[in-house]
Amino acid sequence: MNEQANKRVTIFDTTLRDGEQAPGCSMTLREKLRVAAALRDLRVDVIEAGFAAASPGDFESVKAIAESVEGPRICSLARCHPGDIERAARALEPAANRRIHVFVATSEIHRKYKLELAKDEIIRSAVDAVRLARESCDDVEFSPEDASRTEPAYLAEVVAAVIEAGAGTVNIPDTVGYTVPTEFAELFRYLREHVPNIDQAILSVHCHNDLGMAVANSLAAVGAGARQVECTINGIGERAGNCSLEEVVMALRTRAEHFGLETGIDSTKLYPTSRLVASITGMHIPRNKAVVGENAFAHEAGIHQHGMLKHASTYEIMRPEDVGLSRSNLVLGKHSGRHAFRERVEQLGFSLEDAELNRAFDAFKQLADRKKELFDSDLEAIIMNAETGSTGPWTIDELHISAGTGTIAAAAVQLSHADGRTIKEAAVGDGPVEAAFTALERATGIDLDLRNFEVRSVSIGEDAQGEVTVTVEYNGQSYRGNGVSTDIVEAAARAYLEVINRVARRTRHDSAEADSVAAKQAATI
Ligand code: KIV
Ligand code: ZN
Repeated sequence: MNEQANKRVTIFDTTLRDGEQAPGCSMTLREKLRVAAALRDLRVDVIEAGFAAASPGDFESVKAIAESVEGPRICSLARCHPGDIERAARALEPAANRRIHVFVATSEIHRKYKLELAKDEIIRSAVDAVRLARESCDDVEFSPEDASRTEPAYLAEVVAAVIEAGAGTVNIPDTVGYTVPTEFAELFRYLREHVPNIDQAILSVHCHNDLGMAVANSLAAVGAGARQVECTINGIGERAGNCSLEEVVMALRTRAEHFGLETGIDSTKLYPTSRLVASITGMHIPRNKAVVGENAFAHEAGIHQHGMLKHASTYEIMRPEDVGLSRSNLVLGKHSGRHAFRERVEQLGFSLEDAELNRAFDAFKQLADRKKELFDSDLEAIIMNAETGSTGPWTIDELHISAGTGTIAAAAVQLSHADGRTIKEAAVGDGPVEAAFTALERATGIDLDLRNFEVRSVSIGEDAQGEVTVTVEYNGQSYRGNGVSTDIVEAAARAYLEVINRVARRTRHDSAEADSVAAKQAATI
């Protein structure tokens, strides 16, 4: 395969594996399935759905994505261990197109301190792993972890050996975000010159962002022959994150005359996918983030506005609609009907199932009663809630708060449970939020450990909605919840109740499972 002649860059998305590994970014199975469906609509080529051997939960999510997502190739990561490869192969079985991605570290630091293995032992384990993976999967990728800090001559030996063993893609990771563009491009050129069978594989790049150069380093590698880029939505990932998918894709597209390359991405889905991932992970997008940040297409300075009015290309290198951001911040009001609402949702790039659309429309009507103007960002918050929002068992019927300077804050709640119960509780606290949280805990009997509390304004104006994200711990597990309202104490209570509901559903599910195991055991005695 002549990579210079190949003009198509494969987009390998690892939001659900490397992205999800980041602290605070873990997702439930339902959330992963939503993200995987959005990645399919975005038309990524490969979805790295997880690391099947890492835990039973990871195995189940790779399998569920393999079962339900058609179109992209579904991939699982695996160490060079037979057990890992077997788990990856099993989880991927339902996928029409699958890939096993095996990796082992190759740099001197990792060989000496982490693996305690000699160079030839690492090559042997990599070759054995690729051969084994090929027995159950035609498409195998290999990554020499920490490649950018590996001796180039040794790296070339490893790469040649895994291609010989059957790896169709060889990925070169800058695992610790250490390299710089010129040096990294040089490494790709070196490999293309010194690996005799390099034309039999696709070269891939995988960059971390520790020095803020993940996108630049990935583009440098592409310029030097890489034809697969590994990246994540919003650049989420361990530490400072990974190469951002939306940035790398729009750089290749906007500077097509420079790179002469293309991807298969539907760029109009970038913005909604970015919002979905931000809402699910609670990792908010900075306003000035390239491509998908709120200010990415906002022009404040008078001289810029003047130029923009004469011709948008004076100050705009991409059109907002190219990334799925509709320019109109048109305001829907309380008289807008379901049809206009659906149309706006579609213009914003979201596709909701009927039940979700109905939920979102009800929420829209309620909000329109409380707020004069509804901006696109208000609609997005409603849509995210309709897409990801929890479905009980508890719902808030009433929440009363009394608070003020020099008085003790107090909260009273009335909750309904899906089984028909209604519970009233009250509590005092240091402030209205603490009082509301304590009242919710008393009413539901679920005590959470609050670890993080964030509040931000969804749109502009005095009656803007506030979005609260809470991160809590329960039984050693971390959970995240989101709540949106024009009243931030109510938004906080909704976020907290979302987590309580998750815990309640999980507890119910775990005890149902325990009952069924006990029943099976009793039946076999
Ligand atoms: O950063 C890294 O080296 C990785 C590999 C497993 C590809 O994520
Ligand atoms: Zn990585």
